[in-house]
Amino acid sequence: MEQELISLSDKWSSYIPKITSDKDFNETYLRIFGTNGEFTLTIKKLKNVPPDERPKIGQLANKIKSDLEAAFIQQKENIQRIAIGKSIDVTAPAITPPSGHLHIVTQAIEEISEIFERIGFTRVRYPEIEWEWYAFEALNTPKNHPARDDIETFFIEGKPSKKYGRMILSPHTSSGQVREMERLNHQPPIRMINIAKCYRPNWDISHTPMFHQFEGLVVDRGINITHLKGTMDYFAKEFFGKDRVTRLRPFHFQFTEPSFEVDINCGICRGIGKLETGEKCRFCKEGWLELGGSGMVHPNVLKAGGIDPAVYTGFAFGWGVERTYMMKSGTKLDDIRLLYSSDIRFLEQF
Ligand code: PHE
Repeated sequence: MEQELISLSDKWSSYIPKITSDKDFNETYLRIFGTNGEFTLTIKKLKNVPPDERPKIGQLANKIKSDLEAAFIQQKENIQRIAIGKSIDVTAPAITPPSGHLHIVTQAIEEISEIFERIGFTRVRYPEIEWEWYAFEALNTPKNHPARDDIETFFIEGKPSKKYGRMILSPHTSSGQVREMERLNHQPPIRMINIAKCYRPNWDISHTPMFHQFEGLVVDRGINITHLKGTMDYFAKEFFGKDRVTRLRPFHFQFTEPSFEVDINCGICRGIGKLETGEKCRFCKEGWLELGGSGMVHPNVLKAGGIDPAVYTGFAFGWGVERTYMMKSGTKLDDIRLLYSSDIRFLEQF
């Protein structure tokens, strides 16, 4: 039987590489491994082999089977290659492969970073998995404070820390404020631009559970509201266009005092609230659009970051990247969730 196997192997392993058609390929395969194939019939004789020789013959049979199968696979590729070679006109112009581009949110992040880096801000990133302390207590928002309900939060299961509380998914980039004060050894000047993913349990046309914010923080001697306003106007002009301005509208945040919402004049009606036809502008509220929160850093936040509020003052702002970008592009995107739908037909447009 050993001899039979060896000659079977010799015969077919020299034949397989000569196969050129699919038809011959299939027929040859069946002639060897089909129900009445040579290999199949030979292997049936294994039961007649004396038991002490069986393992050796069995091993040989397995090896021959896998070698022949490998030869078949190799030959299949050769046949295909020959077929393609015959049908390809190598002088024909090539098809340009589809080229991708950065996601629009990544494009926006890069543009925002550059605008702030040009006036001396340093781009930083802080953990997405954060301690409650950096997101709340350090920002003058103690446990049970009602303002904490405004910022709904994902909690992570695990052992809380005595000092830092529970682990959470960072609900805003403001968690980076005190981290930045620590990174700089509590030594102003600070000019931080922190752009990062944030998480809140919301899902509707203007919210996704993961979104991005960009957070500015400036701390130095003599920083006042005019620096905040000047920075906001600079950003509005660089990002949205020369004819844009901002206004500060009183608001409340725990970690800034005073606090403001920053509005920008509407790019469609130019801040008038009416179109040339006299029709009411549907894009804005009376000529203004809301960009996001800002304010003068609360003394308790400086203290939490080991900075003396009697010597230093600062301003901060934190806005949504997606929202800000949508306002610029005039994409008229009516559902923010599309940004994360991974639908190439949508993403290709930007
Ligand atoms: N963290 C605030 C928010 O997510 C925004 C903000 C940042 C407000 C910095 C003031 C200063 O809504």
